[in-house]
Amino acid sequence: MDHAPPSQFAIEVAGLQKRYGEQVALAGLDLRVEAGTFFGLLGPNGAGKTTTVSILTTLARPGAGSVRVSGFDVAWEREKVRRTLGVVFQEPSLDRELTAREHLDLQARFYRLPERRRRVGEALERVGLAGEADRPVRGFSGGMRRRLEIARGVLHRPRILFLDEPTLGLDVASRAAVWDHLRTLHAAGGTTIFLTTHSMEEAETLCGRVAIIDAGRRIVEGTPARLVEDLGGDVVLLSLDPRDGSAGGSADPGEAPDAALAAARSVEGVRDVSRHGSGLRVTVREGTRRLPALLDALRPFCVVDVELRRPDLEHVFLHHTGHPFEPEQLA
Ligand SMILES: Nc1ncnc2c1ncn2[C@@H]1O[C@H](COP(=O)(O)OP(=O)(O)OP(=O)(O)O)[C@@H](O)[C@H]1O
Ligand SMILES: [Mg+2]
Repeated sequence: MDHAPPSQFAIEVAGLQKRYGEQVALAGLDLRVEAGTFFGLLGPNGAGKTTTVSILTTLARPGAGSVRVSGFDVAWEREKVRRTLGVVFQEPSLDRELTAREHLDLQARFYRLPERRRRVGEALERVGLAGEADRPVRGFSGGMRRRLEIARGVLHRPRILFLDEPTLGLDVASRAAVWDHLRTLHAAGGTTIFLTTHSMEEAETLCGRVAIIDAGRRIVEGTPARLVEDLGGDVVLLSLDPRDGSAGGSADPGEAPDAALAAARSVEGVRDVSRHGSGLRVTVREGTRRLPALLDALRPFCVVDVELRRPDLEHVFLHHTGHPFEPEQLA
């Protein structure tokens, strides 16, 4: 295998543009993925995810911009790029008349893998298709096909694995099996995994980093936890004992006293405080970290119950694709 120029980045995309006739698919995309990352590319329908995967895997030509994969230029070093990667496409790409074993055998021959029979057998075993190995694919369910496509994508132990919506249309058990398989592969070390998905649960479960793209541009990127944190909208619901009117006046008996609202407002990171039933509703940055200080400030008001609600990646996705997040959505 050719040695790539040393780079900490498995993928480096700068100013990438791509048009299909009049249709702009990518409008100056920038993206860098460190080697070994489990990376998720998210975005609404038509955002440019499949176009990006096609260019990164050398199936489509870039328009303007520069794209390096495993240190090689996709426009000028296509063969070198191809040798380093495995791909699982959004559109099924299996031959209905071939068996599972034949698919993997062809792949092994293409990459001139040593110990072909053993590796194909092990791969079938790993994705739970050993029992169906010699049946033609036309009799396979969607889940079996996906698992076979993944087995084929990783057979030659690529440095980078691309998966375009790998669990689309799978039932819960098949999806869990695919997730397990990808996690194991990633945990074994070395492999960069780049997937696209519409499932925020999938991205949150698997990906160490995600980027959201829209209309062919990157909108935001980071760890799922950081992106959620940056919404700054954790909500803490605190129930106060309604009989306890000890510290300060209240608008109505049974409602939280003004002094309790003031006490909550004085805590660092708190953005908004309002009455909620007989208690308080507090919007705060980094809710988990601020909770002890909040409880401490409210000690005179007899807190009897606490509930922390956090936004998740779905809120992040909506927020950055035209549906601004309001903490009210959580309570
Ligand atoms: N072969 C093609 N010919 C013409 N237009 C195309 C072609 N492929 C993609 N496009 C257009 O490019 C844009 C990006 O499409 P792409 O398939 O990359 O989006 P996507 O993010 O993968 O969407 P989805 O979530 O629906 O899979 C869309 O506007 C699409 O209509
Ligand atoms: Mg797509």
